[in-house]
Amino acid sequence: MRRIKLPVHIAFIMDGNGRWAKRRFRPRAFGHRAGVQNMTKICTHAFKLGVRIVTVYALSTENLSRPKEELDELFDLIRTYFGKKRDKLLEMQVKINVLGDISVLPEDVQRDILEVTEETAVFSEGLFNICINYGARQEIVRAVNAAVSYGRFVDEASFKDLLSTSGVPDPDLIIRTGGEVRLSNFLLYQAAYSELYFSKKMWPEFSKRDLERAVENYSARDRRYGNVKES
Ligand code: IPE
Ligand code: IPE
Ligand code: MG
Repeated sequence: MRRIKLPVHIAFIMDGNGRWAKRRFRPRAFGHRAGVQNMTKICTHAFKLGVRIVTVYALSTENLSRPKEELDELFDLIRTYFGKKRDKLLEMQVKINVLGDISVLPEDVQRDILEVTEETAVFSEGLFNICINYGARQEIVRAVNAAVSYGRFVDEASFKDLLSTSGVPDPDLIIRTGGEVRLSNFLLYQAAYSELYFSKKMWPEFSKRDLERAVENYSARDRRYGNVKES
């Protein structure tokens, strides 16, 4: 890739697993399995390009209303990747953090998640946030309630500290695969000035080259933050 302006933080809405599988006459779970494999591949590539923070939307709060059969498959995948296949995550050599309400997961899976976050805390070069049962509105409401319970007014800086992304710079680039052009309750507060990129590719088929294209596209953008363009 030619020299370009890199985003510090990329967030992915990894959408399209189900449709990708359906097109291959396979069950949706087959798509989710391929999706998780692609997650480690694409995120590893992002870090290799020099991106420092990667956040992925793995499961939204609203996804919990999917049929039990599909949820069982998704929870199984989470169990596997934080358990038996933990090495796939550890190999990335970045600090892993899980955002969202994981109290819905079985206790042993919650313990595994905690172990992985503790084991990877030593890696300071990169940060990999995995959003599980995450919803931005819920996150904002929780932050407001926290402020109220402390009995204090907030400003932008102190409010940010009450969000699950406390201490993490906002995403510079949000990439959504799967062809839908919406945020689906992802990082609504943090995305205020994020650059958005939508790909028609389904998540399991989103390639390293596709990521590079998205980053090149980002690099050519002019981020004005409401100001006027410098000459
Ligand atoms: C994204 O893929 C993964 C999750 C939301 C868990 P989908 O499961 O939404 O796949 P499509 O959008 O139905 O193709
Ligand atoms: C967004 O995808 C959530 C994740 C990718 C985890 P959805 O498939 O749930 O979003 P909608 O329903 O199309 O908005
Ligand atoms: Mg979807």
